[in-house]
Amino acid sequence: MSYSHENSDNTISYQAYVFDAYGTLFDFHSAVREYNHIIGDRSEELSKIWREKQIQYTWLHSMMGSYSDFWIITKEALNYAMESVGINNSKMHSQLMNLYLKLKTFHEVNHSLNSLRRKDCKIAILSNGTHQMLNEVIKNSGLDSLIDLTISIDDIEIYKPSPLVYQLVIDKLKINKSDVCFVSANNWDVAGAKSFGFYSVWVNRNRLISEKLPYQPDLIINSLDDLT
Ligand code: LAC
Repeated sequence: MSYSHENSDNTISYQAYVFDAYGTLFDFHSAVREYNHIIGDRSEELSKIWREKQIQYTWLHSMMGSYSDFWIITKEALNYAMESVGINNSKMHSQLMNLYLKLKTFHEVNHSLNSLRRKDCKIAILSNGTHQMLNEVIKNSGLDSLIDLTISIDDIEIYKPSPLVYQLVIDKLKINKSDVCFVSANNWDVAGAKSFGFYSVWVNRNRLISEKLPYQPDLIINSLDDLT
């Protein structure tokens, strides 16, 4: 049975809206931004390398058939990033990790999720983050009342974009693929969700060019506000 339906204004509603966490709801650059005044002109590079290495390590672990949880991977990626921009400061390292649990949401997140809340649908997060990381960042950002379910890959110990990860949504929410609208600002994550069979939306806040992958988004928006 399919629950997705077309509304009178031709928009389509889905039974579940499933969001990526980091980069989509939570701005991972907001951690390093708190340190701009100390790090200075290396801030942007530090934050960029931190994220790139974090994601690379998830892919490498999955391909090697090994697993370290996302908290450990995020720590190792920060080690690499700090070393690569020439910062040796263990106190800063632990404070940046702590800030990862207090990331700021993008400005439209609260409003957009509240609008979705008024529809008859489930709102979930599907993320590489551990349950503990996700629970803390959700609580600290005040989004807890807007999220019905948080799904972590930690349950299966393999990272996005393995199809096993997107299958978790089906298993946990007990719905059909065609009833899921998956939303991510990470174009590669959107490709993974699309290849699995979800209706997939790319939030392209920074007007990036598209990945050259066979699985293209069904919809590209510039802000989560455009979803509702
Ligand atoms: C996540 C990463 C990919 O939240 O942003 O799963």
